[in-house]
Amino acid sequence: MRILFIGDTVGTMGQKMVNEYLPLLKQQYKPQVTIINGENIADGKGMTQKDYKNLLQAGADAITMGNHTWNKRDILDFIDDAKKLVRPANFPKGTPGQGMTMINVNQAKLAVINLQGRALMGELLEDPFAMLDDMVAQVSKETNCIFVDFHAETTSEKLALAWYLDGRISALVGTHTHVQTNDARVLPDGTAVLTDAGMTGPYNGILGVKREKIISRFMTQRPERFELVTEGPGQLNGCLIEIGDQTGHAKSIKPIHISPDHPFGSRF
Ligand SMILES: [Fe+2]
Repeated sequence: MRILFIGDTVGTMGQKMVNEYLPLLKQQYKPQVTIINGENIADGKGMTQKDYKNLLQAGADAITMGNHTWNKRDILDFIDDAKKLVRPANFPKGTPGQGMTMINVNQAKLAVINLQGRALMGELLEDPFAMLDDMVAQVSKETNCIFVDFHAETTSEKLALAWYLDGRISALVGTHTHVQTNDARVLPDGTAVLTDAGMTGPYNGILGVKREKIISRFMTQRPERFELVTEGPGQLNGCLIEIGDQTGHAKSIKPIHISPDHPFGSRF
């Protein structure tokens, strides 16, 4: 099966880029499954029910989250009914929502799992390594096709988890840093990895935020109220992964980057 993943979709420009380019990507690559990270869709932090519906309507089959899962309080009103929404599985026991969803793809099934890293971000969360070990042991009774969005800060933690699970999960794609890494590969035992898929939204901000706010914060060392860029050129980042339906092993992973510097359809 072919999986299209779109990285951290930021604000209204993120939604606009998905609306504009997802149909073109589907037409060109014909993925059977589309997964979108949506934790930044509501003004940079969190997701409302309207955003959830908009992403599904745009063509997502599953939506993953991260450290901003709870920033919009109304998510608590709908997360337990949102079957296609996946928040990090290693949040504390009893947390609303689910850490995994299962998608039917013709005769096969794809498990979509979301986890959050601990290095430099969520030190108090449960160990994602042990958590994924347990989840894979359970899920592999049902399918070998397992996709993981690992929402984490450091490249090392993301690579470590991918290598640790090599051959036991189909793909691990990192999110959260908003900058796409240049390391897409299939590991020796069949797990595809991309340390960070990059973001989808404004192209000329800094991680989606107005540049002057970020620059000022670095220069003054004072907190700034972040505002998203809402106009100008956009970007879409993600990847395309091909996996064997039976084995669950990845055959290929290809990064996707669309921006004014790399227009859709151009080679880079
Ligand atoms: Fe994040």
